[in-house]
Amino acid sequence: MNVLEGKHIILGVSGGIAAYKSVELLRLLRKAGAQVRVIMTRNARWFVGALTFEALSGAAVCTSLFKNTQDAAIRHIQWAEEADAVIIAPATANIVAKLTSGLADDALSTFMLAVRCPIILCPSMNTYMYESKIVQRNLRALKSDGYIVVEPESGALACGTVGPGRLPEPEVILEKVIRCLWEKDLLDKRILITAGPTIEPLDPVRFISNASSGKMGYALANAALRRGATVTLVTGPTSLAAPMDAKVVRVQTAADMARAVSDHVNDAHIIIKTAAVCDYRPVESASHKLKKHQDELILRFEKTVDILKGLGDKKKGKVLVGFAAETESLNENARQKLAKKNLDMIVGNLISAENPGFRADTNTVTLFYKDGTSESLPSMKKEQLAHIILDRIIERILTQQQR
Ligand SMILES: Cc1cc2nc3c(=O)[nH]c(=O)nc-3n(C[C@H](O)[C@H](O)[C@H](O)COP(=O)(O)O)c2cc1C
Repeated sequence: MNVLEGKHIILGVSGGIAAYKSVELLRLLRKAGAQVRVIMTRNARWFVGALTFEALSGAAVCTSLFKNTQDAAIRHIQWAEEADAVIIAPATANIVAKLTSGLADDALSTFMLAVRCPIILCPSMNTYMYESKIVQRNLRALKSDGYIVVEPESGALACGTVGPGRLPEPEVILEKVIRCLWEKDLLDKRILITAGPTIEPLDPVRFISNASSGKMGYALANAALRRGATVTLVTGPTSLAAPMDAKVVRVQTAADMARAVSDHVNDAHIIIKTAAVCDYRPVESASHKLKKHQDELILRFEKTVDILKGLGDKKKGKVLVGFAAETESLNENARQKLAKKNLDMIVGNLISAENPGFRADTNTVTLFYKDGTSESLPSMKKEQLAHIILDRIIERILTQQQR
């Protein structure tokens, strides 16, 4: 699962104000098990000392083509041959221009001409520089040459301007590197995932809901993105960070979720419904805050729309996966739901004190398939479970459909 373990990564650092962030990026890459070699431009050393990178990478930093070290003569070629991925962060307007025109007048630019592995370029500069026609033209040229360009973030920059140009946080760049190295077995697949709870209002400040945290759906979205899928995530309220590069549609009620799913379903090849949609909603939702006048408050509820059943009825070649959280008779209940809702697979979990399912970071589940077979999995992190679910969708459903 750890694609960075033992990988040879080259971190190129050029002379931008955000060079300090590449120190943290180096630390994260090392923590993930990568072997990192650093190449700095001469100007980058105005911003961060080579010694910092040397200490954190555990290897000599290359700052010049002509340094009198044992392997200096061939170092830039050998490092290029051995690299699994190259990241330039921050990439100045200057290095962007040099790469575009093939200049090789220092260690980093010369090395870059010999590179054959994926290159992740993280431009970072003043907004006016970034938006200038020439920088934009250079970046377009590099993208069309196969460079993976990580767009800078917008915000207040060190130079005082507000706009695009800020280097994304090291965690974001790390995720880009991981995705770049991950096997893309879901490329060209569009996946619609629902996640989190829905909330059904009683009045403007109160609602009924459930304990779903959204963690399983978000883990599936992140896993699918790493594997190359295009992901739309329809999510009820959660405190989780939006998965990078997913289309995120935020909803509140079951009715909102049904609408959002119906808006996006035609486009999807695979639909995974992890959301804990409220089965009932209050018949009336007060337009003002309910006051504590009576000793008793009696509420009437009505059924919400059954989104999963609606999808099963008209799924037309799409893969449909549901989730079932039960407190008893898991096998019976899950199999019933699988058949009734015309699913290809259902992920069942028996909720108990040891396996709370909701909110927890781990889950113990049984996968039930359409052909009547099932597979019980041990307790594991939701991130790991997400990959197993996607593996089974590929092996047990997509490959069967192709036969
Ligand atoms: C304080 C300071 C901050 C700078 N920050 C950036 C920056 O964020 N991005 C950029 O493209 N250039 C920045 N520059 C300009 C580059 O350092 C300059 O273009 C240099 O020639 C880049 O050299 P290099 O690409 O070989 O590292 C900055 C310059 C100074 C003095």
